[in-house]
Amino acid sequence: MDAISIGLLGLGTVGSGVITIIENHQDKLMHQVGCPIRVKKVLVKELGKDRAVKIDEAHMTTNIEDIINDPDIDVVIEVMGGVDKTKEYLLQAIKNKKHIVTANKDLMALYGSELLTAAKENGCDLFYEASVAGGIPIIRSLVDGLASDRITKMMGIVNGTTNFILTKMTQEGLPYDSVLKEAQDLGYAEANPASDVEGLDAARKMTILATLGFSMKIDLDDVKATGITTITEEDLHYAKQLGYTMKLLGIAQRNEGKVEVSVQPTLLPQSHPLASVHNEFNAVYVYGEAVGETMFYGPGAGSLPTATSIVSDLVAVVKNMRLGVNGSLAVAPQHEKNLKGSEE
Ligand code: NDP
Ligand code: HSE
Repeated sequence: MDAISIGLLGLGTVGSGVITIIENHQDKLMHQVGCPIRVKKVLVKELGKDRAVKIDEAHMTTNIEDIINDPDIDVVIEVMGGVDKTKEYLLQAIKNKKHIVTANKDLMALYGSELLTAAKENGCDLFYEASVAGGIPIIRSLVDGLASDRITKMMGIVNGTTNFILTKMTQEGLPYDSVLKEAQDLGYAEANPASDVEGLDAARKMTILATLGFSMKIDLDDVKATGITTITEEDLHYAKQLGYTMKLLGIAQRNEGKVEVSVQPTLLPQSHPLASVHNEFNAVYVYGEAVGETMFYGPGAGSLPTATSIVSDLVAVVKNMRLGVNGSLAVAPQHEKNLKGSEE
């Protein structure tokens, strides 16, 4: 391989981070994959926008065909968001034998199994580490690091925007609307921030974690999600006075052979380790029968942390290409069980 050619779908917060890391870490990447990585084409909605990183116009397009039908492109990195159209693009790319790296939890929570199956059938990799907890390698840890253990429970803060809002409201007494705006300006929030503040983004991430951790097909519709929209500055003020901190917690646990997944605002004693996870940071506890309690902590949103996970996935894809093997982060289980524990 002389070089690896990338098609990048999206050049917003995360896409800009991907370009920055590929440019700034060329030496490290060269050492890892043994050849240069080139971004051949970048898909955006609108050409001519002012952007955080500048790309030569010849490498920009608004036509997906320029990427998925280009035989030179080896890997498609999807950081544009959205579900239906994006799924169509990725399935087409897979059909055209392109490996996929995505940060899209909405898509993976709903259609992960279908996409992983399509990738496997076409001899392609599909990696999605950035879809949960931004820069924390939590998916890889579940799939590889804890592969031998039986996970009993996962619990944590998996949405950076809401943690940022709750932190600023609690610590600085700032109003909800202005802190949400700040989170949007910093690039933490979803295109529609209702996903964040209503707990849906966290529900999607917990669905992905639970599917992997419990090797069961978890249906997003079965996840109960409550967000932070009804929490007031007074609630947080009184909680603080009483020695508590409010966090939006995702919980997934086995209960009598079934798995229950939920997201809700929760009062934690200020001495609890999750109470000191601030701003856009995330933390996930994973409990295993053999390992006991483990905790994963780090930046859960933002351009460079998220892009780190994406480019690391890219490295994994290229290593597989060199070895002539496929190894998506999780191949769709051959023998899936649904949330209620019955086999499909
Ligand atoms: P942005 O809104 O900042 O960027 C989206 C990019 O995709 C833009 O460049 C936009 O083009 C392009 N785009 C969107 N829709 C289309 C379309 N239909 N056709 C062509 N181009 C399109 O989003 P983010 O970078 O914040 O997020 C991207 C993905 O990463 C999402 O799935 C998000 O959930 C996920 N993610 C985000 C994180 C974060 O911290 N922001 C962290 C982890 C995951 P244009 O610039 O022309 O508008
Ligand atoms: N909007 C998401 C968050 C981005 O705030 O956590 C990271 O997935």
